[in-house]
Amino acid sequence: MDSSELSSSSLQTKAQEQSAKIKNVGVIGAGTMGHGIAQVFAQAGFNVKLNDVSSDFISGGIRRIESNLSRSVEKGKMTQDEKNGVLSRIIAAPSLEDFKDREFVVEAVLEKIEIKRDVFKKLDKICGNGVILASNTSSIPITELAALVSNSERVAGMHFFNPVPVMKLVEIVKALQSSELTIEVIRALAVKMGKTPVVVKDTAGFVSNRVVCPMINEAIFVYEQGIASKEDIDTVMKLGMNHPMGSLELADFVGLDIVLDVLDVLYKEYEDPKYRASPLLRNMVRAGYLGRKTKKGFYDYP
Ligand code: CAA
Repeated sequence: MDSSELSSSSLQTKAQEQSAKIKNVGVIGAGTMGHGIAQVFAQAGFNVKLNDVSSDFISGGIRRIESNLSRSVEKGKMTQDEKNGVLSRIIAAPSLEDFKDREFVVEAVLEKIEIKRDVFKKLDKICGNGVILASNTSSIPITELAALVSNSERVAGMHFFNPVPVMKLVEIVKALQSSELTIEVIRALAVKMGKTPVVVKDTAGFVSNRVVCPMINEAIFVYEQGIASKEDIDTVMKLGMNHPMGSLELADFVGLDIVLDVLDVLYKEYEDPKYRASPLLRNMVRAGYLGRKTKKGFYDYP
């Protein structure tokens, strides 16, 4: 074994030891992504504290988890006892101060840089400085968030995909400051959650959104130019490419505001016109037609 293999195997050992000690995790944000992340952690046996800006949001998230689990029980994929066990491991944490005892934290709040900055600054004061702080952001630079906390090497991205209980991928985003140990601990946790992790550098859009958002944007341009109907564009992608959803359907599913935010970040960061957002997308966001969450996007969701 050469020295690089030796150091890599000792890194793995350290990461396994550190991840095995993590039992109590905190999830900030009980929305579409946060509630899914909390559910998957609890299903993997972790004790989860779930925080959001109001108790109503937290209970809304817990209700969504309960309904997901009930569906699994109805389908015979989980017993009632297992469901109760998962729910018993999730508790509401109305204040971030409740995260004092957490051994790992993942943030899934709104994709607004000011809000994320505020959360990271607070976490820095509340959590011990060895606690890994991960962000589920899909577009905000992790390097910028890491710069806000002491011991920045413990910060990295842990990017899940919607619906979190179903989608296998976790993109682990390595900020300029992230240590190899931080990355390997997150990798071990993701595997424990039944996910398949990939590690990517902290660049705008990472891999996932740098590829998927321009694809969605192009489908919107095609629609805007009247080349085919929205249904036919989606049929091309489903039947011709074997995608589970057509690109316009996917835009509605992800949220048109999120797609636009990502495209704007890509455009600003790379200064490449290939990332310019379609005018129709921008106008739909202005109109509040954000997709499924507002019951109206390219399709209606009555
Ligand atoms: N929460 C939990 N489970 C869900 C769910 C949800 N919101 N929606 C569906 N499921 C489960 C169902 O219960 C079902 O489970 P079983 O196989 O155990 O029965 C399974 O998923 C399949 O669901 P359905 O049969 O109802 O529907 P489907 O076959 O059409 O699949 C889908 C639904 C999984 C959402 C599928 O259409 C799909 O994979 N779509 C693409 C999703 C995608 O691309 N996500 C990534 C978006 S990008 C992102 O998230 C990152 C970002 O930064 C923007």
